[in-house]
Amino acid sequence: EVVSELLGLSQLGDRLSAHLGVATVIVVAGNSDEEEWVKQELGRACMKEIQAIAKANDVLAVMGGTTLAAVANMAERNETLASTIFVPARGGLGEKVEIQANTISAEFARRTGAAYRLLHVPDQLSEDAYHSLVLEPTVKDILEVIKSSAVVIHGIGDAQRMATRRHSKDLFIETLEREEAVAEAFGYYFDAAGKIIYKQRTIGLQLNELEGKHVISVAGGKSKANAIHAFMKHRPSDVLVTDEAAAKELLQHK
Ligand code: BG6
Repeated sequence: EVVSELLGLSQLGDRLSAHLGVATVIVVAGNSDEEEWVKQELGRACMKEIQAIAKANDVLAVMGGTTLAAVANMAERNETLASTIFVPARGGLGEKVEIQANTISAEFARRTGAAYRLLHVPDQLSEDAYHSLVLEPTVKDILEVIKSSAVVIHGIGDAQRMATRRHSKDLFIETLEREEAVAEAFGYYFDAAGKIIYKQRTIGLQLNELEGKHVISVAGGKSKANAIHAFMKHRPSDVLVTDEAAAKELLQHK
């Protein structure tokens, strides 16, 4: 029975891969909206992909979120990974410290034996502050490391939920509603067609800088199907790690 279930999940992954134009889709059993262990399984499966892809001395850029925290939790000491450097992909986005990209990259490093670098940038950057920060030598230095990353690992969120979690202003939440935002990733908000509606002002990797990097997206739960779909419309990732509930829902999308 276990074998046929695994077969079923890998077939689901193959169908989704063709459907979304994502080269590799890994599907784990269950629905992470409902059960916490499913998120841990997402973490485990994602960690396997990272191990398969990362090469010695690579820079790995990670985003924040509870799913990425689950991935970091599954990291283990590994010879190749111990030679890598983990960095946050982008600066502060208004998350709690436990699930900030900085914290998560330090956790990956602690568990794998890798090095890490932090990016200290406030969440709400004014235009002026933004322009002077990027000129700071220490910031410039880490930005170069981030841009040199070979692998990028990130979560995808539902637009409204992410805006609320980050305590965005009502006016902004209304704008997202009016513009019919459905997805959030990397601090960018997207509509169902994958069009960028808004971008949070913080430094680090910009979406148009992903070319040539190996992008691993990890997101599950039936409630995230619209968001995953929208993000993949914007730009299909190299790898998607998701769960059964999201996968089945995604296959219903045109
Ligand atoms: C955030 C990332 O920290 O986590 C977002 O900055 C992402 O880009 C989100 O959408 C996903 O969060 P979670 O908790 O659903 O994994």
